[in-house]
Amino acid sequence: MAGGIHFSGYLHGGDYNPEQWLDNPEILEKDIELFQKAGINEVTMGVFSWAVLEPREGEYDLEWMRRIIDRLYENGIRVILATPTGARPKWMADRYPEVLRVNDRGQRDYFGQRHNHCNSSPVFREKVRRIDRKLSEAFGRHPGVIAWHLSNELAGCAHDCFCPLCQEKFREYLREKYGTIEALNKAWATTFWSHTYNDFDQIEAPSSIGEPGLHALNLDWRRFVTESTADFIRVETEAIREGGSDLPTTINLMYDFRPLNYHKLAETVDFISWDNYPSWHKKEEALTALDAGMQHDIMRSLKKEPFLLMESCPSATNWQPVSKLKKPGMLAAASLQAVAHGSDSVLYFQLRQSRGASEKFHGAVIDHYGGEDTRVLQEVARVGNALRAIRETAGAQTAARAAVLFDWENRWAMEDAAGPRNQGLFYKETVEKSWQAFRKMGLNVDVIDMTQPLDDYQVVAMPMLYMFRDEYENKVRAFVEQGGTVIMTYWSGIVDDTDLCFLEGTPHGLMDVLGLRSTEIDGLYDWEKNTALPVSGNPLGIGKTYTCNHLCELVSVKGAQVLMTYAEDFYAGLPALTVNRWGRGKAYYVCADFEQAFYDDIYSRIAGEAGLHGLLETVPEGVEVTSRQTSEKEYLFIQNFRRTPVTINLPEGKLLLDAAIAAGRECPEENLRSERGERIIEPLETLVLARIIPH
Ligand code: GLA
Ligand code: ZN
Repeated sequence: MAGGIHFSGYLHGGDYNPEQWLDNPEILEKDIELFQKAGINEVTMGVFSWAVLEPREGEYDLEWMRRIIDRLYENGIRVILATPTGARPKWMADRYPEVLRVNDRGQRDYFGQRHNHCNSSPVFREKVRRIDRKLSEAFGRHPGVIAWHLSNELAGCAHDCFCPLCQEKFREYLREKYGTIEALNKAWATTFWSHTYNDFDQIEAPSSIGEPGLHALNLDWRRFVTESTADFIRVETEAIREGGSDLPTTINLMYDFRPLNYHKLAETVDFISWDNYPSWHKKEEALTALDAGMQHDIMRSLKKEPFLLMESCPSATNWQPVSKLKKPGMLAAASLQAVAHGSDSVLYFQLRQSRGASEKFHGAVIDHYGGEDTRVLQEVARVGNALRAIRETAGAQTAARAAVLFDWENRWAMEDAAGPRNQGLFYKETVEKSWQAFRKMGLNVDVIDMTQPLDDYQVVAMPMLYMFRDEYENKVRAFVEQGGTVIMTYWSGIVDDTDLCFLEGTPHGLMDVLGLRSTEIDGLYDWEKNTALPVSGNPLGIGKTYTCNHLCELVSVKGAQVLMTYAEDFYAGLPALTVNRWGRGKAYYVCADFEQAFYDDIYSRIAGEAGLHGLLETVPEGVEVTSRQTSEKEYLFIQNFRRTPVTINLPEGKLLLDAAIAAGRECPEENLRSERGERIIEPLETLVLARIIPH
């Protein structure tokens, strides 16, 4: 893993809260026994245990934790230790109300919930430092402790803090960033509606009862909240280092989480981890798998290193509208999907179900009944078997030569912009279309932001890159010049870092590279659509027509070759898809929001033309193929998320995992079977095939 972080083999375990069972010491012994039966080798401890660790201000009790860590260690179970700062004790809120958040209408929250501290508060930071240092001194060198889990799901379910301290920090952030108030006024376009500031002291955070509509203010506020969260992570990290521990750190990230730019937070920790709770069986599993798959790729791409699946639900998730049980085999398929996309763990929330409060009905490895003869425990054991069978693949990297841009700041700016379609721009969905098109042809795909290099890729899709920050156009230009293929879409290169519109034509700085200028964009009503027709003899060999909706851009071509044209409306005959040769590369431009079939067909042609081949010759719909590799071997993961069996033509290799192995048959290296040719894969089955990389 990152920076040489290795946990030797896969971690299999999850959140464990033995502090809820201190009055019943037999529970721990029983749990250890069950952990062993289920192949659990890790527990994540300490999340939310502050009130037990520091029951009264300055009075610490860490002995119970030491006893438990020792006992787990004696039984071969490793601990990821969490700092308890995801929730605070009541005494702290009562004595120091400044630790409680203030909403955008100026009201301070009462005590309650979690993830909702004012993380600017000096008192809060001091309390955090002390408890973290204590934990680090006590356990940071314990041989059973392997990593730090800082706080929990930062900002999850909570609003931003708008207290006077945070407002002042925001103003400092702006002073630092802009230097003079004139510079800020210019960058924020404050002459509009007479919103000019005379001094930084006058600036207030965005508010529903104040200024909600100054887009650059909103954008800088989100950047500030991200930065102050990163700063808070640094405080925790420093405290842990001061306590003498040099173990790697992580934070557990969340699904499609907009409020914080995860690329910035990623810089503050040693490795990435995230919590994955798809609603399996709500739609066809193949569709849910696509959704989860892209999230895994986003997480892996943050550091371009293996990550940990920090939480997932072994059974039904109680906060979802319907608590659906996972059907037999679903847990293994979902867990191995994380591994296939680069996870070095399968961890659950939670290991033992709590007895009371709001998560008493959340799925757990050990339920209230507490026996080993439960369906869920058997399913968990099956995951344990699978992870043992593929042990050698842990730590292997993902090599991708195709990437899709998905940029947080771009999203904030675009979704706040007012126009060209306030009832839905569908940024995430559009990114997904590109990602899916590459994935369906069997490519590994990175999902990166504008700060990341493009050098590793042959083809990069840049859907709806509305904002070009840090002069992104130069990066794109260099990439194409050096032989890369770019696929850019409508609504790109429109504004700069502070949401000021570029003058003199868009896509800004790339009109020569793309061989066109965007002239207008048409927002379509939900019921409207247009169609694109192939230009006969087009070099991609496109023969079909495709529909588009939501947004249709009109471009004026200067040099680009037109591959498809609109069929309807007053812009019938204008380009809908173009390509331009530039330097040693090519720049494609997709003018409208097309149906998925367009992306599937066109992207595979473009990627093929650029020399990319899928991991399998053909990938049937609903099948996921990914690979991980070391310097010697490539591991192919093939998963059937369809509801029917599928036949796959396997390349030559040795099978590390199939259904029989997952069900319990051990698979020592010398027994590996050589496989090649046709093979049926059952629904929810995963195959893992090892191939030697020729040198
Ligand atoms: C989140 C939290 C956990 C728990 C689970 C329940 O991921 O981090 O503490 O509440 O949700 O699904
Ligand atoms: Zn605050």
